[in-house]
Amino acid sequence: MLSIFCKQVSKSKCLIIVIIVVFLVMLITGITLLVLTCIKPCWLTRCHPKASRCINRWPFKAQCICSEDTTGNGRTVCDECGVKYDFPNARIIGGENVTVNNWPFSALIRQHYQKLVFINGEFRVISPTWMCGGTLINRRTILTASHCLKMAGDTFEYESFEYAILWNEFYPNIESSLEVSVGVYDRRKQTRQQHVKVVQVIRHPLFDEKNLHNDIALLKLADDLRPSRTIQFACLANSYLDVNLTGIAVGFGDTIPGANQGSIFLQQVNLTIYPNEYCSNVATSIVKNWTMQLCCGDLQGERDVCHGDSGGGLFIQRNISSDNRYTVDGIVSYGEECATPMKPSIYTRISNYIDWIGENSDF
Ligand SMILES: *[C@@H]1O[C@H](CO)[C@@H](O)[C@H](O)[C@H]1NC(C)=O
Ligand SMILES: *[C@@H]1O[C@H](CO)[C@@H](O)[C@H](O)[C@H]1NC(C)=O
Ligand SMILES: *[C@@H]1O[C@H](CO)[C@@H](O)[C@H](O)[C@H]1NC(C)=O
Ligand SMILES: *[C@@H]1O[C@H](CO)[C@@H](O)[C@H](O)[C@H]1NC(C)=O
Ligand SMILES: *[C@@H]1O[C@H](CO)[C@@H](O)[C@H](O)[C@H]1NC(C)=O
Repeated sequence: MLSIFCKQVSKSKCLIIVIIVVFLVMLITGITLLVLTCIKPCWLTRCHPKASRCINRWPFKAQCICSEDTTGNGRTVCDECGVKYDFPNARIIGGENVTVNNWPFSALIRQHYQKLVFINGEFRVISPTWMCGGTLINRRTILTASHCLKMAGDTFEYESFEYAILWNEFYPNIESSLEVSVGVYDRRKQTRQQHVKVVQVIRHPLFDEKNLHNDIALLKLADDLRPSRTIQFACLANSYLDVNLTGIAVGFGDTIPGANQGSIFLQQVNLTIYPNEYCSNVATSIVKNWTMQLCCGDLQGERDVCHGDSGGGLFIQRNISSDNRYTVDGIVSYGEECATPMKPSIYTRISNYIDWIGENSDF
């Protein structure tokens, strides 16, 4: 071969030229591949068969997105979403009747804190606890409200004094202060297996504490949750909600306004999605933004979410891929008083956060 190319020049010169050419070709190929994997990593990524698309996240990160009836990391996991075992679902064959009306997407979130304080001339350790709800959206992620998670520097009221949170020897960081359980129906009967460990808390970077804008957060779990009869993942609502639909809110919050006790059993309530302006008279000092919030409740004031339900899901039953499935469309954010006529409540609008959730719930 070499001798054919090298008729004009000497063999050694020719060899050097060939080596340089080969080297340049390899270099250019290498650089091209590097650039491609940097700007278009999806070209070289194998997604799960149930994934519907791949997003090039600059640099070097390809994120596979599961189809709308599944949820997961899109590469190795796309679990079914929105399936509930107590209503007819084509996927569940020979199922059994569920006696307790369980919501397998619901999580119970408690945050504990301890602090040595000086009250009335003596040192005391105080131990406040706050309760919220959450929604399981994939094996490693729970969706909740930002305002549910107290961070360093946030304040809390205890026996009419106000204190600031500073992580200490009792609770060295926010992750250690969270006690999260899944598959719970009766709060008194929780097992060790229902507790899950949080490794990372992601609050929305634009969370506005005053107006409760971007009231959304994610808890990343240490271990995979295995889907079962009591543990399932909700599908995400990806389109702007129509009014008049029935939404179902789920939580352990108060059943009597002002009781501050919460409910022992997980409760659910049918509510109505209202036109945005029906909520413009709710807590009028707080600025609303209907791109990121939605209005839902009961104008008669008979049904509502209440204290302790914050962070929990507002679900809508939909026919997705020929199956009845539940999507999480809202996160309980705030209201004026619980169950007041003409005052529905404000929820974080999930469809506005699909990209943010997708990017931050990858595992
Ligand atoms: C479930 O409930 C229905 C209606 O009450 C009843 O006909 C059926 O036998 C029950 N199935 C099982 C497996 O218990
Ligand atoms: C919603 O329901 C109300 C009262 O039933 C009705 O007046 C209104 O037209 C409905 N709106 C839509 C968009 O369906
Ligand atoms: C709640 O709404 C669902 C439809 O989304 C309906 O099937 C169910 O009967 C309603 N429950 C009550 C108690 O109104
Ligand atoms: C409402 O929120 C959207 C989405 O975050 C934002 O683009 C828009 O500017 C906000 N509108 C107002 C009036 O602040
Ligand atoms: C869902 O919709 C399809 C048609 O789009 C229909 O064939 C199917 O029966 C529906 N499934 C349920 C459970 O309603």
